[in-house]
Amino acid sequence: MYRSHNCGELNASNINTEVTLAGWVQKSRDKGFMNWVDLRDRYGITQLIFDESRTDKTVFELAKTLGREFVIQVKGTVIEREAKNKNIPTGEIEILVSELTILNAALTPPFTIEDETDGGEDIRMKYRYLDIRRNPVKNSLLLRHKVAMEVRKYLSDLDFCEVETPYLIKSTPEGARDFVVPSRMNEGQFYALPQSPQTFKQLLMVGGMDKYFQIVKCFRDEDLRADRQPEFTQIDCEMAFVEQEDILNVFEGLTRHLLKEIKGIEVDKFPRITYDYAMKTYGNDKPDIRFGMEFGELNEFAQHKDFPVFNAAELVVGIAVPGAGNYTRKEIDGLIDWVKRPQVGASGMVYSKCNDDGTFKSSVDKFYDQEDLGQWAKITGAKPGDMIFVLSGPANKTRAQLSALRMELATRLGLRKPEEFAPLWVVDFPLLELDEESGRYHAMHHPFTSPKPEDMALLETEPGKVRANAYDMVLNGNEIGGGSIRIHDKATQQLMFKYLGFTEEEAKAQFGFLMDAFQFGAPPHGGLAFGLDRLVAILGGQETIRDFIAFPKNNSGRDVMIDAPAAIDDAQLKELHIKVNLA
Ligand code: AMO
Repeated sequence: MYRSHNCGELNASNINTEVTLAGWVQKSRDKGFMNWVDLRDRYGITQLIFDESRTDKTVFELAKTLGREFVIQVKGTVIEREAKNKNIPTGEIEILVSELTILNAALTPPFTIEDETDGGEDIRMKYRYLDIRRNPVKNSLLLRHKVAMEVRKYLSDLDFCEVETPYLIKSTPEGARDFVVPSRMNEGQFYALPQSPQTFKQLLMVGGMDKYFQIVKCFRDEDLRADRQPEFTQIDCEMAFVEQEDILNVFEGLTRHLLKEIKGIEVDKFPRITYDYAMKTYGNDKPDIRFGMEFGELNEFAQHKDFPVFNAAELVVGIAVPGAGNYTRKEIDGLIDWVKRPQVGASGMVYSKCNDDGTFKSSVDKFYDQEDLGQWAKITGAKPGDMIFVLSGPANKTRAQLSALRMELATRLGLRKPEEFAPLWVVDFPLLELDEESGRYHAMHHPFTSPKPEDMALLETEPGKVRANAYDMVLNGNEIGGGSIRIHDKATQQLMFKYLGFTEEEAKAQFGFLMDAFQFGAPPHGGLAFGLDRLVAILGGQETIRDFIAFPKNNSGRDVMIDAPAAIDDAQLKELHIKVNLA
């Protein structure tokens, strides 16, 4: 038996018990005649004591050779500690060691295995197994496990059945590039790794499974960001015989359950806002609603004077930043430079300071009087002491720029509190999105999403105006899930492919299997998928998903620990019928 207890469970009630523990040496403090060692495992830290006057001489000497991260086993007696540590559960006791076995020596770790480590991102990723020994990463993985368990329990209790779908498939269009896998047995042909199990879950509905879910890996070859990994995990769900309302209710219930079980937080019914409202009010389809700073459209009160910049703009829009009225000229200039960076792309910014006495001082006093500025304050909801920032230009671009500024200022002002949770639904997404480069329409969610029946007629005339039965769940400014009611008849699906620019042959070649299935009694169905990594990260108070994934990829899509991707040898290439021409 390697151990009788773990390193987190012994306390004063165990005094005088003989125990065996095993773990890693966190640190040792050698005072000559007395040597304390902190022994660590997943469950906690227990202090060991080696005392010259009470410990066998060989054991005492051996203890002096222990280095950080050595793996050891000890036998000893639980005794009361003299200097108690109230901060840890084992802080009242220590183990007077009688036997010590070194199970494995360890090299000095390349960074400290502490909550606050001296290791940078790269080195931590290279030695991820050491990083996982640190509490922040370990606790993130434990949180992920707990969330996954709660999801399984909740959905299973509602009769959802977890079904595994294949990883070696044919391309499914979710908007990213596919990762492909060459087929040895089918020369010149490739599988694609699923960007999501979308078509399979729909086929499971045709198969009568009624309520499906799967905690499943998805693969997308897209540019990486803090909230994106090339392989990530979805909580993927689908239901038959449902309308949008049924789906929103079930998954709002799941999210409410998770917030309660994981964070101990009760939330009211989630607000629902339309995509149009979200874009107008927050410039963003995943708004963080934990703080105000809602957009005020100022065209009416900004285009009646001789300020050419505003007069030429499609949209003039502002936000009131609470308490920012005392920003110095330098701070304001800094913000103007910030919005002018290429990443944001504004050409300039106007401001109006709301003085405590109810007057205003703006950067455009030459053009606007106090009455005009008063209207700006009214529309943006500015109070004395606030600052109004105004951007102008083409509507969509300007909204995106002001949204970036809103989020940046909220972060700087500490308004994005990680322990506050504000979930909401964004509904009525447009069905199609115009790709400015190609001039073609793309499915905004995916091509299987059903248009709203009342908007169908617009498909011919104003395709950009057709709304879909599509919805996203948003939590604290992050899209944590999205889904739709699906098309379930062949004719509509065919029509959709036509509008998306597929020829009949292309549609048949790629999705014939799905349209065939629709002819064999497909029930009305719909669903959604949550991003598990994102959900767990936000529940853990963060927005970077990397530390909630055991072995993530870096920003170049590399696993620097195992050094992947890597070249493969010629024999393997040949077997796969692949010729590599490195020019
Ligand atoms: P969608 O593409 O919106 O929908 O994806 C669902 C959710 O998955 C998460 N997500 C990601 N998380 C980490 N890294 C990524 N690269 C990444 N991409 C997406 C997001 C997102 O909300 N088949 C549909 C769902 C459906 O219609 O039922 C789908 O995949 O949190």
